[in-house]
Amino acid sequence: MKSFYLETFGCQMNVHDSEKVIGTLEERGYAQVDTVEAADLVLYNTCSIRDKAEQKVFHRLDDNKRTKNKIFGVIGCVAQQEGEKIFERAPHVSLVAGSASYTKLGEMLVQLERGERRVTGLSLDTEDTFETAVTRRDNPHKGYITIIEGCDKSCAYCVVPFTRGPERSRTSESVLREAQGLAEQGYSEIQLLGQNVNSYRDPSAAGWNFAQLLEAVGQVDGIRRVRFTTSHPRDFGKDIVDAIDRQGTLCNQVHLPVQSGSTRVLRAMARQYTREEYLMRIGWMKSASRDIALSTDVIVGFPGETVEDFAETLSLLDEVEYDSIFSFKYSPRPNTSALGLEDHVPEEEKSRRLTILQEKQRAIQIRKNTALIGTQQEVLVEGYNSSTGQWIGRTSQNRTLNFVTAEQAEKARMIGTYLPVRVTRAGPNSLVGECAIPV
Ligand code: 5AD
Ligand code: SF4
Repeated sequence: MKSFYLETFGCQMNVHDSEKVIGTLEERGYAQVDTVEAADLVLYNTCSIRDKAEQKVFHRLDDNKRTKNKIFGVIGCVAQQEGEKIFERAPHVSLVAGSASYTKLGEMLVQLERGERRVTGLSLDTEDTFETAVTRRDNPHKGYITIIEGCDKSCAYCVVPFTRGPERSRTSESVLREAQGLAEQGYSEIQLLGQNVNSYRDPSAAGWNFAQLLEAVGQVDGIRRVRFTTSHPRDFGKDIVDAIDRQGTLCNQVHLPVQSGSTRVLRAMARQYTREEYLMRIGWMKSASRDIALSTDVIVGFPGETVEDFAETLSLLDEVEYDSIFSFKYSPRPNTSALGLEDHVPEEEKSRRLTILQEKQRAIQIRKNTALIGTQQEVLVEGYNSSTGQWIGRTSQNRTLNFVTAEQAEKARMIGTYLPVRVTRAGPNSLVGECAIPV
């Protein structure tokens, strides 16, 4: 029996792509193993969003450069970006394939099995993107579904349009079929995925937009929670907020990356919205009847970002009061339009801004989480932490709520169920509570 080892870097799209890769490999008789040593085939599914992410795969390849009798493959975003240059940098690699080529993975494996030394799949010609038949999902309760691939925006800092190609949406019928299939297999939570889910356009006659698709997925029998990521503010319509308000199965959580609070920097980033236009969308969510949790992404130190621009990002955090944020130092990327700009905010200044930003956000999260003490939240039980003796639950707002039960409960019976939990304590990143009913 042939065996493979797969390590995944990057976003949820990549995690889900890996599920498809695993499905394809298992179908071809490969068995997944936990270590490089035990594997015949070693695959790295890579991310190139920032330089640090990209360097990880080259470190891994360096660590293994003297390993004999194994096939090494680089797949995903670094593969698409660097292409055959990877063979020069790491001559022991035999397979380089971008995410748009995974449907051809089977053929590529046959070529490798036949003894071909180098195989590539780098076409972004993506006709059959959604035709991968087998997916080996990692989590028995939460399932990812891709609704749109690629990105047609040209944000000045972002490599994604180059690594994942142009936008192409999947038909609503195919998405709903997959959602129904998941529900029948016992999945109760679905996460819809795309680089920009808001620009979803049903290519079939129905012609649905994203809000219509979202609401229909929320109505699939057996589905209790639906999330989606990622949204682009420019394409984020009020109809999405209305759908969340109407349809209780849609989680009251929205991730809306802002990148900067300064309209001047947003223009330089080619984000296609102003601070005010962004805040208008936040306003829709704040005036919804459900309490929608908000999260965002922020980049500090984009070329030309002044101390005043940065102060506007800080004031935006105060104004919005996000429930969580992801924040990054600007990293110049190949092919992007910002690459031509001088990266003139010094590294130490980027670090200083990042620390200030994260400290401010930490205080906001402590305040917001503390306000939840005494409330009751419904959680999906995701796991058990044996070192703390707590169950790990997640609320509809996507908060982690660790909790105890009055009596001992069995893992197999608990995980995947929905329980009411009373919040007793709060930290910056999670809540602690007690299950409100006997289990
Ligand atoms: N440098 C730093 N952060 C970046 N991101 C995307 N490109 C870069 C870059 N070149 C961040 C953005 C995006 C998130 C996924 O990663 O905030 O929303
Ligand atoms: Fe990384 Fe972007 Fe590729 Fe996801 S799509 S793996 S974040 S580069």
